[in-house]
Amino acid sequence: MCGIVGYIGDKNSVPILISGLKRLEYRGYDSAGISVLDSDRCSIIKSKGKVSILEKKVIEHKLNGTVGIGHTRWATHGEPNEINAHPHSNEDGTLTLIHNGIIENYSTLKKTLQKRGVTFKSETDSEVIVHLIDSFLKKGHNFFQSVRYALNSLEGTYGVAVIYSKEPDKIIVARKGSPLVIGIGDEENFIASDVNAIVAYTSQVVYLEDDEIAEIYRDRFNARTIKDIEAVKEVVELEMAADEVDKGGFEHFMLKEIMEQPESVFNAMRGRLLFEDGISKLGGLKGFEQKIADSERIIISACGTSWHAALVGEYMLEQFCEVPVEVDYASEFRYRNPIIKKTDTLIFISQSGETADTLAAMREAKRKGALVLGVCNVVGSSIARESQAGVYIHAGPEIGVASTKAFTAQLIVLALITLMVGRHKSLSLVDGQNIIREIQSLPEKIKKILSLNSEIEKIAEKFKDAKNFLYLGRGYNFPVALEGALKLKEISYIHAEGYPAAEMKHGPIALIDENMPAVFIAPKDSVYDKVISNIEEVRARKGRIIAIASENDNKIDSLVEYSIKIPDTIRMLMPILSVIPLQMLAYHIAVKRGLNVDQPRNLAKSVTVE
Ligand code: F6R
Repeated sequence: MCGIVGYIGDKNSVPILISGLKRLEYRGYDSAGISVLDSDRCSIIKSKGKVSILEKKVIEHKLNGTVGIGHTRWATHGEPNEINAHPHSNEDGTLTLIHNGIIENYSTLKKTLQKRGVTFKSETDSEVIVHLIDSFLKKGHNFFQSVRYALNSLEGTYGVAVIYSKEPDKIIVARKGSPLVIGIGDEENFIASDVNAIVAYTSQVVYLEDDEIAEIYRDRFNARTIKDIEAVKEVVELEMAADEVDKGGFEHFMLKEIMEQPESVFNAMRGRLLFEDGISKLGGLKGFEQKIADSERIIISACGTSWHAALVGEYMLEQFCEVPVEVDYASEFRYRNPIIKKTDTLIFISQSGETADTLAAMREAKRKGALVLGVCNVVGSSIARESQAGVYIHAGPEIGVASTKAFTAQLIVLALITLMVGRHKSLSLVDGQNIIREIQSLPEKIKKILSLNSEIEKIAEKFKDAKNFLYLGRGYNFPVALEGALKLKEISYIHAEGYPAAEMKHGPIALIDENMPAVFIAPKDSVYDKVISNIEEVRARKGRIIAIASENDNKIDSLVEYSIKIPDTIRMLMPILSVIPLQMLAYHIAVKRGLNVDQPRNLAKSVTVE
């Protein structure tokens, strides 16, 4: 949540900050602001709402400066208005700060500072940090030490960047629990919450670790720990291209990302399938294969869409690997007493690799001595770095707040893990090869589904004014029903529920009438006949039915109002296909309702607060 960007060099920082904030807007878009060093003071411009509003203000004010920081906010403490927008400053305006995270002891610190006569302007927790730093400066400490002392008094999480007009040659940044990356340029340096904001300017980055603080100059940086011990940092070369984070001619990132799935799914499997041996080769799990196969239990934990992927993973691993699997919401994991044994393997799935709940659950599992694996998209993210081993899904940057291509790439990786573990157990060579063949056929099948875009758009038109939706599926397609419902509600604000199709008769059937659309995921698999019975139950009560069905299924058309026909595959891979029409349906409904699908209200892409 919240995006941070900064620049120090010879150029005007303002356009760099604005373009960086636009690329970070998926992290929050309640308000935005920038501060630049300009002679002996920090000039600040802030606005409520999107970065585009800030941009207009910045142009009107002709803001200019070669050192600057910028922030886009997802509100936690204090409503999303201009006063609460970052940057925050000390009383004489010499010091400005941006913050991503939550300061848990802010009210105690605020009271202490207020007793000393400090006046607060905002309702945010973040403002205490800037006044705290100021109090150390007033005691005669230098800028670096003042920031360090202030951070040592904080409880909670932070990624911060601070500038000070009396030491204008540097930006000070620090991190604890919120990501921060330094971009290394030629006589210029950058800082950001994630590399998307700076990839257009540099491909050399340094990831700050928790409890590290760094002084960034235009031509160098020094990193230390918060306890003031030197931190040795490695410069990493990014493989990502700047155009990967553009809309590429599409109206929305979400549509672009849906349409990219033939490639993203291919990238998730590329170089990882050994057909001769009927097995997968996952470099990030090298040396751990046997240990994973020998686990007495596998627990998969994640949030949101990644949790839906975890549920599909449970079905896959239990079908092919003779290992009990449990799936846990990461947000619940450490609020009970999870029984974790050293013989367990835990898989944490996270697109961003920064989700606070998933990260905290992973740390708890690690403390309990289990083998901890990460399945992430963002290279170098916290979960990727802190897990003992892991697999990148290689979906490429996902900017649309609603996750689409990350979900299907996560499922590919889970299928590859299943194949690897299965082959270490009793999965036969022939069965392994069959799975590989089917995995390899997916990109072409996805292309076929994507060609149904205008057909799905027409269906969306018919249902765009619905007040509620039910999504129903069984077996492997039950998590797809959950995911279809989540996609619809988060971007169209239509209330939607996902259910196992057979559960409908235990309650939700009471909701069915001629106004209730029900989306059935009903490919021709082993539970097909049972799902058809469930369809009949809805029909009998005049519910409106859309079915996601197999392309050779002619019978279903007489039972439903609309059918979307998709190619067949083996059961374990069907969710990778069946979810795509649901992504498109949600997308078109939201667009037709006139909503901003890339930035739905109240949401942020990367949930770095609890
Ligand atoms: C839904 C969505 C969220 C995320 C969830 C976990 O479209 O994007 O539900 O899936 O916040 O995020 P990651 O995967 O980054 O841990």
